[in-house]
Amino acid sequence: MAAIALGIPAVRRGGSDVPSMAGRPDVPGLVDRFGRVAHDLRISITSACSLRCTYCMPAEGLPVIPRDELLSAGEIGRLVGIAVHELGVREVRFTGGEPLTRGDLVEIVRRSAEAAPGTPLALTTNGIGLDKRAEALRDAGLSRVNVSLDTLDREHFARLTRRDRLPAVLAGIAGAHRAGLGPLKVNAVLMRQTLHDAPALLEWAIEHGCRLRFIEQMPLDADEAWRREHMVDAEELLAVLGARFALTPVGREDPAAPAEEWLVDGGPATVGIIASVTRPFCGACDRTRLTAEGSVRSCLFGDDETDLRGLLRAGAGDDEIAEVWRAAMWAKKAGHGIDDVDFVRPVRTMGGIGG
Ligand code: 5AD
Ligand code: SF4
Repeated sequence: MAAIALGIPAVRRGGSDVPSMAGRPDVPGLVDRFGRVAHDLRISITSACSLRCTYCMPAEGLPVIPRDELLSAGEIGRLVGIAVHELGVREVRFTGGEPLTRGDLVEIVRRSAEAAPGTPLALTTNGIGLDKRAEALRDAGLSRVNVSLDTLDREHFARLTRRDRLPAVLAGIAGAHRAGLGPLKVNAVLMRQTLHDAPALLEWAIEHGCRLRFIEQMPLDADEAWRREHMVDAEELLAVLGARFALTPVGREDPAAPAEEWLVDGGPATVGIIASVTRPFCGACDRTRLTAEGSVRSCLFGDDETDLRGLLRAGAGDDEIAEVWRAAMWAKKAGHGIDDVDFVRPVRTMGGIGG
């Protein structure tokens, strides 16, 4: 059996064993050896979740991260400020686990908005409880939300997420709309059990003013059940959707956008596909990630992490923290290679990284 653990990889401590900066040009931004520049910051704020999606979590959930090991709202705000003012980050997204399980999410958003006024702040959530907090989040400075929803079939939903919570998710989406947290995007992971629910989900999304994107399942499940040969790929989804809708390819919104878009029945509605496995977009990746414990992760895959929390708590200045962050990103590898025969999964699973 796979060891059920958060899978905390070896963390490089800020200070003596920070990755080497050899060969790095002296520029402020988060550049890497392959010419990429990270402008998009994703911060995981918890590994706890109200669902147990089989492509992500083990049935029993991930181990709880002790409170004092999580970054506080104030620490998150400080890092957001450094990212935006020193490192050229232009957009920040909070992920999990499920960010709404953190009682201080509104405070996290408020501190981040104060540290970086005008920077778009987004949330990736499963939507449960969003109806109750959408307005407070908007007032604190949240710009938009992405809600994960794979099927509208209640039984399929319950089986996939191991929780019968579809109505709560739909209530959350409605609440986000009411609060004006749009344009709302819906993310659906492509799974064999729900593939044939895709046309109904697309119809519903169009009716409800949501932008739907399907995502190829990546090998980030705690149960390690992912098999390349069982995975539903973009091509298979296009065949299923194509039987119901006329789809016209329109490409990516911008070169760094992971989703490729199709017009549905001539538009204006579109559907997106994030073909992370069969059409990897690593070459255009513009992301930098922070774990809930405050380490930089340069990629979803690849287990190197560089600790910033220790520096923060030791009283380091913004310049020093920014420099360690630059070094961590300079060490980013070229790509994930999921489709390669010698692919090795990362130790951390999605619930611990946050998508
Ligand atoms: N592959 C692809 N996407 C995943 N997500 C969670 N696990 C996986 C996986 N193994 C998605 C969630 C959510 C986002 C955070 O990542 O559905 O939309
Ligand atoms: Fe929770 Fe999201 Fe993982 Fe599902 S995919 S278990 S909602 S963190």
